[in-house]
This record gives sequence, structure tokens and C-alpha cells, in this order.
Amino acid sequence: RNLWKLEDHPKLPKGKPVAVVVLDGWGEASPDPYNCIHVADTPTMDSLKKGAPEKWRLIKAHGTAVGLPSDDDMGNSEVGHNALGAGRIYAQGAKLVDLALASGKIYEGEGFKYIQECFKNGTLHLIGLLSDGGVHSRLDQLQLLLKGSAEHGAKRIRIHFLTDGRDVVDGSSVGFVETLENDLRQLREKGVDAQIASGGGRMYVTMDRYENDWDVVKRGWDAQVLGEAPYKFKSAIEAVKKLREDPKANDQYLPPFVIVDENGKPVGPIVDGDAVVTFNFRADRMVMLAKALEYEDFDKFDRVRFPKIRYAGMLQYDGELKLPSHFLVSPPEIQRTSGEYLVHNSIRTFACSETVKFGHVTFFWNGNRSGYFNPELEEYVEIPSDIGIPFNVQPKMKALEIAEKARDAILSRKYDQVRVNIPNGDMVGHTGDVKATIIGCKAADEAVKQTILDTVEQVGGIYVVTADHGNAEDMAKRNKSGQPLVGKDGNVQILTSHTLRPVPIAIGGPGLLPSVRFRKDIQEAGLANVAATVMNFHGFEAPSDYEPTLIEVADN
Ligand code: 3PG
Ligand code: CO
Repeated sequence: RNLWKLEDHPKLPKGKPVAVVVLDGWGEASPDPYNCIHVADTPTMDSLKKGAPEKWRLIKAHGTAVGLPSDDDMGNSEVGHNALGAGRIYAQGAKLVDLALASGKIYEGEGFKYIQECFKNGTLHLIGLLSDGGVHSRLDQLQLLLKGSAEHGAKRIRIHFLTDGRDVVDGSSVGFVETLENDLRQLREKGVDAQIASGGGRMYVTMDRYENDWDVVKRGWDAQVLGEAPYKFKSAIEAVKKLREDPKANDQYLPPFVIVDENGKPVGPIVDGDAVVTFNFRADRMVMLAKALEYEDFDKFDRVRFPKIRYAGMLQYDGELKLPSHFLVSPPEIQRTSGEYLVHNSIRTFACSETVKFGHVTFFWNGNRSGYFNPELEEYVEIPSDIGIPFNVQPKMKALEIAEKARDAILSRKYDQVRVNIPNGDMVGHTGDVKATIIGCKAADEAVKQTILDTVEQVGGIYVVTADHGNAEDMAKRNKSGQPLVGKDGNVQILTSHTLRPVPIAIGGPGLLPSVRFRKDIQEAGLANVAATVMNFHGFEAPSDYEPTLIEVADN
């Protein structure tokens, strides 16, 4: 028996083209001046909302609904797209690392034993995002790992951090560095030579993704490995404070710096015999550095020196590439995703976004797996993102280009599913620029119109419009009663991060039987319920262990 064969849906036909649109960072919140989606002119999404409750509803996109440790964890694109594509909820990296640290199992695993070999004669370098955002990394995990590494024999430790300001409030870097310095001082008192060695802002140093701009990784490499950077400081706190004095500076884009000793020598370049751990659990923004650290053959930039090190990721970041080959915690094993099932059932798929979100609708969607399941049946198109232009300067991004590609794909009738990610709400939302985010939301709304309302109409198809997590619907930090918090400067404190808000899902199109409607019996549904829903629209029942479909077919 073919285990991949999906049962036919008893009531829904096959052969209808299905457009799946993911609006990145598009949550639902009450009307408010800091709700950019509400303020923006968004006639398409507004009209879809009128379909409630039968054709529009809200679903959860944060916390335990997407496999995060708690319901205080905001949603993010990795876990969101994983849930959308996999149709089931997996304990995610953040949670798996928590468990491994709490039980101490992390120190017994192959990955830690591998790097431990270097502790006798070499330095342990920890590279990653310094943040408590819980999206890519968490400070408390770094603190535990530091302490545990020292207890398990590390005598010389160097930290190379990236400042955040994207998953957390801008300016919070200073406090995180102070906390870290305090921990390092305590380690030094116990005889461990532990120091910060380098730093830089995550969006300018190291944490690029999907090979958008290798220069970002190179800047990090120069500071972390070679000990070279345009700025040199004696202390990291001084570095971050000084660099932030520039009125245009922010945590996300701080330039790279290295920490030097009294003689002006960098305190922690990475050299032969050292151990390196990248302590982010999330994959997308660590893969490029992992390649630079691991691959013998590498031509993305001149590494100048390729030290013989032992390198482990906090997790394995890419299951297909087996990258990195050593890791401290095993990643969630996301198997049998909807994409893989659909390919086995002859569904032809087209997926598209611009570079900065391209891996979201492919790699994350397919359970952190790169490449095609079957190139004969799938086509993934990446529209190059603009490099070096801040997203608030061009808030329309490539939304229309993505929509046009989707339109052409739908009209070609070569595909059964056309899937896109429209990035504006998220990418512009992260800049904290309210005006620009409003423009971005409008552009995203227009893209939805072009992709679905217009084209799906023409071909008699079905659409599913949803989002991966909230962002643009709330740009203010708030107190417990929901009022915006005002900072020392008298201005409202801007929220650059994602939110805990639910996201909308709308279904429709001429190919959708009028009797199809959202069920009322699963109020607690989340992103993981979408995969079964989409499978139904292709005429199939979802596998029995998938989260249940959101829809029912009324008898009449
Ligand atoms: C980022 O990596 O840009 C942010 O930390 C999270 O945003 P995303 O989850 O929407 O990609
Ligand atoms: Co985001």
C-alpha cells in the first residue's frame, strides 16, 4: 500500500487551482493609531473580513499553538510556516533547547562531546543573537550554556554577540550586555578566562538569510574569526553605548566591533584548535555562517584564514544539507509535510516570494528542508530583494512583483497550488517606522487583490489568505491595560517585534463550493489546522494525524 496516497475527499472536487497567500506579519487587533493595518487603506482584506464567520475567521499564531515553550512567546515566521506546511504542532527549537539544558542532556550529547575535545588547549567561542526575544535565541539559554560549559571543562571562553532590537525593543542591547558581563565576571572569579570578543547589529553583521547579502556574513567573519573590525573598544558596554550615540544608530544595524586588550590586540579571534558554537536555535539566519565555518570549499567571500576548529550549532539548521554536521540539540523532526504529500498525489506546486522571505514558503514550509521533493512537479521562484535599501525607504518591497509572478503562474494553468508570501507587514513592521508600515500594508493588500481576487476569479479557482504571525497590527509597546507606553523622551515606545495576536484566514473563490464554510466546533484552531484545509481544497482528506481541517461542507 502506498503510504503517501491521500484519500479522496467525499464531497470536494479535484482540479481546482488553489492560491495560498501568506501575509507575513499580519495579525488582527482592535482599531488604534498604532495598528498600521487598520490605519492603512486595505480594501481587499476588509472585504474578505465581511465573509465572517463562514469564510473568514481568526486562528492562533503564537505560543503553544505553534510549538513554542509558552503562550507568552510571540509567533514567528519559522514556527508559523512550519505549522502551516506540516499540519501538526511540533515542539520547536526554543523548547527543545530548554529541555536539553534543564535535564543536562545537552552536555551528554555527541555535539557537546565533540567540541569539548578542544577545551583543554583551545578557546570556546559562542556566537549568536543576544536577546530574550525567543525567536532566534534566548539570553537565559546562553547563560545556562556558559555556566554549563565552564562546569564541563571550558577554561577560556569568548562571546561574539549580535545585538537585536528587532525581536525586542531597540536599545535593550545595553541591558543584555550588562547582564552578560556580570555573568562573565562571575566566571572569571571562578578562574575561567571568559570575555566578550566582538559584536555588531544582527541585520548588518552575520545574521543575513537566504543568501541575500554575503557581505553581512563577511563583516561578522572579519570580526569574529580574524579579529578585524572598523571599531575597537576595551569593553562591550562602552562599544554598544558609544556606537548608539550616532542619532541614526540602532541595535539592528550597529557596525561590527572587536574588543581589544591594553596593547590594542583583539582578545578573541578564532584560531586553530578552538571550538565554536552558534547558539541560535533558529535556522534561517545561521545557515550562511554555518556554511562559512564548516565548508572546506567555499567561495562566497574571501575568508582569508580558515581555522581548523570544531564547530557545533545549537541545532542542526538544515536537515537536507546536514548542516552543521555537529549540533548540541536535535532539531524537531518535521516529517510528512503537506508539500511532500501533495507531490506524491500529483499536485503541481508553484511557490514564490522575494529573497528575504523566499525560504519561508519553501524551506520552512517544507519542514526546514531545502530543495524540491520532486522538481518535475514543483517550481520555486525567488524574486531578488533590494540589497542595502532599508525596508522603510521602500515599503512596497516586491509585493507587486510577487503578485505578478503568482498571477502568471495561475493563468498558465500549469500548477494546482500557487503559494506566496507577501513580506511587507513584517519586514517594514520590524523597522518600527509607522508611516512606512502603513504604506507597506497597503501594498500587501493590493498584491492580494492581484494575486487572488482577480486571477483566481478568472480561472475558477479557490483562495486561502492567511498570515504567519502578527506584527504590523501593533507598533506600540503597551501596559497591561493596553495603553501605549511612553518612553523617557516623551514618545510612545515603538514595538519592532512580532506580537501575540491571532491572524485572519479567509477562504473563497469561484471554485469553492458555496456550501463550504468554517466549522464552529474548533474555536481553538491555529496555523497547524491550515494544511488539512488546503488538502481538502485539492480534493483530498488530510492524513489522520494532521490537525483537523477548519472547514465543513454543509448538507443542503
Ligand atoms: C527576523 O529574523 O527577521 C525576525 O527575528 C523574525 O522575523 P520573521 O520570523 O518574520 O522572519
Ligand atoms: Co518578522
